[in-house]
Amino acid sequence: MSWRIVVPGSTANLGPGFDSIGLGLSLYLQLDVTPQDTWEIVHLSEHLPQNIVIEEHLIYCIAKQVADQYNKPLPSCKIEMSSELPFARGLGSSAAAIVAGIEVANLLCDLNLTTQDRLNISSQIEGHPDNATASVLGGLTISSMTKDGIVDTLHVNNVDASFVVFIPNVELKTSEARGVLPEQFDRPYAVEASANANMLAASLMARDFKRVGHYMEQDRFHEPYRAKLIPNYADIRTAAKEAGAYGTALSGAGPTMISIIPTSIEESFVEAMKQRFPSYDIVLTKADEQGVQVTSIAAV
Ligand code: HSE
Repeated sequence: MSWRIVVPGSTANLGPGFDSIGLGLSLYLQLDVTPQDTWEIVHLSEHLPQNIVIEEHLIYCIAKQVADQYNKPLPSCKIEMSSELPFARGLGSSAAAIVAGIEVANLLCDLNLTTQDRLNISSQIEGHPDNATASVLGGLTISSMTKDGIVDTLHVNNVDASFVVFIPNVELKTSEARGVLPEQFDRPYAVEASANANMLAASLMARDFKRVGHYMEQDRFHEPYRAKLIPNYADIRTAAKEAGAYGTALSGAGPTMISIIPTSIEESFVEAMKQRFPSYDIVLTKADEQGVQVTSIAAV
């Protein structure tokens, strides 16, 4: 018996929804898991590293951590992994790997985890619930997490919008991008930042994508401080707007940027942006609608 685990990547924040709003994207991490006597992890995608140390591999570490948490031994298996998610670019690759690692433990140790368990464990490990909830559930997720790690998520599907990601050929670690953020905001500033986040969430729920785009560009929590770390931050926002985007924000902590665009201009927009930013990988994406999926497959 083998299992296939498919996990969507995600974008977080969408501007002011800092550490709270996530959106599952139609870019995927896929694992084929087959129980066997020894541990083996095989990377099938070219951009994944080939020198693999099992004990340091994120999927293994998460599966082991979750098994330990439930006081179960973790049986060994072979994992064949492919991914459309580049590392450290702001497309939720680590959250997707965490969600996948939880599924590996759930399958191998018969944990019978609930969806709420998955939301809590993945968000606790990530430290914030935005990417993790989006990888678990797909669609749009608006979440809070208590200090005790209990996650409350409002989940909405059918976000029928088009998104384009601008992926630069450089990495930015989330820890570095969090290191430049202020510890405190004064009250009038916090009120404005919070109002913009509220308007973003309300506009998303109302499917008012023009307004979504506007508020994606009104973040006060993180983008003003991170902009200096992001190549072409201002140029991409301006060029995307000129080419018809509703708005553009950092994808998560960056350095990828994401535009929301009218579906009617998908082709011309992507073509124009490829010409304008030739060193970038520019990809049209939609919202993933399913979240993490586990299916049985015939043993190879
Ligand atoms: N909300 C997180 C951040 C997403 O912006 O730092 C990246 O993990």
